[in-house]
Amino acid sequence: MTIPRIVILTGAGISAESGMGTFRDAGGLWTQVRLEDVATPEAFARDPVMVLDFYDMRRQRAEAAEPNAAHYALARLQAARPGEVLIITQNVDGLHEKAAQAEGADPAGLIHMHGEFANGLCAGCGHRWKWPGGRMTVESACPACGARRVRPDVVWFGEMPYRMDECFAALAACETFVSIGTSGAVYPAAGFVAEARGAGARTLELNLEPSEGAHYFHEARNGLASQIVPAWVDEVLAG
Ligand code: APR
Repeated sequence: MTIPRIVILTGAGISAESGMGTFRDAGGLWTQVRLEDVATPEAFARDPVMVLDFYDMRRQRAEAAEPNAAHYALARLQAARPGEVLIITQNVDGLHEKAAQAEGADPAGLIHMHGEFANGLCAGCGHRWKWPGGRMTVESACPACGARRVRPDVVWFGEMPYRMDECFAALAACETFVSIGTSGAVYPAAGFVAEARGAGARTLELNLEPSEGAHYFHEARNGLASQIVPAWVDEVLAG
């Protein structure tokens, strides 16, 4: 991929209007379940049945969800500017892929730094594969080594996010950094704006309300992603 001029970070807020919910808003997922019970390697070791059931429910919700106008607008931007726009998403819901497919955008322009529901991962040999669908249980076997230690390919708290070298290289070279639908509560993603700004990029936050990192941005626009993201994309494409 060429060096992207525009780097976009997305979080749960871009998928909120697709019915995926968020984590830290009122009624968010972490106000309903303890992340220590479902989103750490220790939780998986302690109670794999509960963790796998939790992720099966989340995966089914994502499979049934449709992208909203914000996802489609970003895919439209990527299709109009091939190679120039990188999306780094914290989301695991696959909605950027669904929108990219509809808009003819190159899926190479997307980095899943927190993994994705679409894959299975073997906790034994590390093999990763497209999950064929159906329930992931403690009886599920790794297609590579046969071990019955299959887990969702999502990055849990205490684990290293994926493809960080590529993310930081893009942040160091981009002209514009846009953060959409994230609270700025979780690093390393929350530090991306400082990296980009320090490297000279123009920084913009598009979020329902000012995030914890709002003060790092040159500009912030608050509102529903389904409204403010397409409006921003239209401005970029008209520019
Ligand atoms: N449009 C725009 N922004 C929205 C909308 C919306 N319709 N609804 C909510 N938001 C904003 C909220 O104001 C909040 O700032 O989206 C943000 C969601 O924040 P979080 O719930 O903390 O989600 P996120 O930032 O993606 O969490 C980061 O934490 O739990 C981990 O791995 C998980 O990737 C996740 C990471």
